[in-house]
Amino acid sequence: MNRADVQKCVEEHYPGFDVSRRKTVFCRNSSIHMLDLCRGKTRDRIVVKVSHNYQPREVALEYANLSRFYNASKDEFLSSPQPLFADAKKGILAMSYVQGTNFSLILHEVKPASLQYISSAADLSGIALARYHEIFTRSEGDRGDLLIIDADAREDDINRYLSESREHMAECNLRMHVTPFFDFTSWNILVSGSRSNNLRLFLIDFPRLDYSCTPHLDLARFRFGLELIKQFPPSKFFGLNRWDVDILYDRFLNSYCREMNASLNDDDLWLIARARKAYLGRAQDLTRKVRCGWQPKLEHMYLRTFSRDWLDQGDVYSKWPGIGLAKRERA
Ligand SMILES: Nc1ncnc2c1ncn2[C@@H]1O[C@H](COP(=O)(O)OP(=O)(O)O)[C@@H](O)[C@H]1O
Ligand SMILES: [Mg+2]
Repeated sequence: MNRADVQKCVEEHYPGFDVSRRKTVFCRNSSIHMLDLCRGKTRDRIVVKVSHNYQPREVALEYANLSRFYNASKDEFLSSPQPLFADAKKGILAMSYVQGTNFSLILHEVKPASLQYISSAADLSGIALARYHEIFTRSEGDRGDLLIIDADAREDDINRYLSESREHMAECNLRMHVTPFFDFTSWNILVSGSRSNNLRLFLIDFPRLDYSCTPHLDLARFRFGLELIKQFPPSKFFGLNRWDVDILYDRFLNSYCREMNASLNDDDLWLIARARKAYLGRAQDLTRKVRCGWQPKLEHMYLRTFSRDWLDQGDVYSKWPGIGLAKRERA
C-alpha cells in the first residue's frame, strides 16, 4: 500500500471528512502514516500502520489485542492508542495518534531526560507490564498444559528456551500463563508528561502471534532491550550514561513484582536469565533477519563488529551482575 492508497482507504472509512497527510515514518516492520481528519471544527489526528510482510491473521490479532487492552485498561497513567479500524487483507491498522516520546529515544539520550524522569518511567513500565499480564492471563482451558509457541513462527532460540525450562517453570513463583507481549521494550512504550510525577505511558505494537508462556519471557525482553541500547553510540562511544542497566532493571522488576504481588525465587530468576540468553541468540539469527529487510541486517553487522562480547555470552548468568552475584553468594 502506498501513501495514496492509505489516504483513499481512510477517506472511505470517514466519509465527509477532509483527510490530509501529516507525515509517514518508515519503521523496521511497518510504515506509520500520520493523517489529520477534519470536519467543521473537529480535527483528529490518526495513525495508520501498514505492516510489511505480515499475514492478514497477524494484523487482525494485533488489532484484537490492542482493542482488548484499550478497553480493559483502567489506570489513569496507562493506556494505548484507541483502535479505530483494521483491514487485515490490506495489512492496515488505524488508531488514534498519541502525543508522546518513544521511551527508547529518552534512554538513547536523543531526547535526554533527568534520571528521576527515567526512573519513574521504568517504575511505570513495570506496572504497565503487570497490568498487561493481568489482562492477557490465559485460563486453564485456554492454554493446555504445554507452553506453546505459534507453530508458524520460526523462533528456534525461544523454542529451545521453552524446552529447557520446564522443570524451572514447575517450581517458579510466576506460574501463570499469559499471551506474552513479546516485544515489551522501550521502543514500544510512548511516554507523555513533562515531569516525573505526571507521566503517562501508552503501549503500542501489540502481539501479532498467539504465543502462550509464563511472564518471564516479557521480563527478559525488557532487560535485553535496556542492554541493547547500551551497545549504541551515545552510551558506548560518547560516554552518555545517565542511567544504569542493573539499577533501572531492578526498579522495573520490583515494581512489576509489587503489582503482581509476587516474589521471585531462584527458578524465576533462572527463567528470566535463560530467556534473556534466548534473545541474545535471536539477535544473531540471520535467517530471521534476512526476511526482515536491510535495517536489522545493518544492526546485526554493527553488533557483530562492536558488541561481539555481549552477543556471545555463553553462560545463562554471565554479565548479569545482579543475578550472577546472588548465585555466587548461594554457591
Ligand atoms: N498511535 C501512535 N501515535 C504516535 N506514534 C505512533 C503510534 N503508533 C506508532 N507510532 C510511532 O511509530 C513507531 C512504530 O510503530 P510500531 O507499532 O512499534 O511499529 P513496528 O511494528 O514497526 O515496530 C513507534 O515507535 C512510534 O514512534
Ligand atoms: Mg515497535
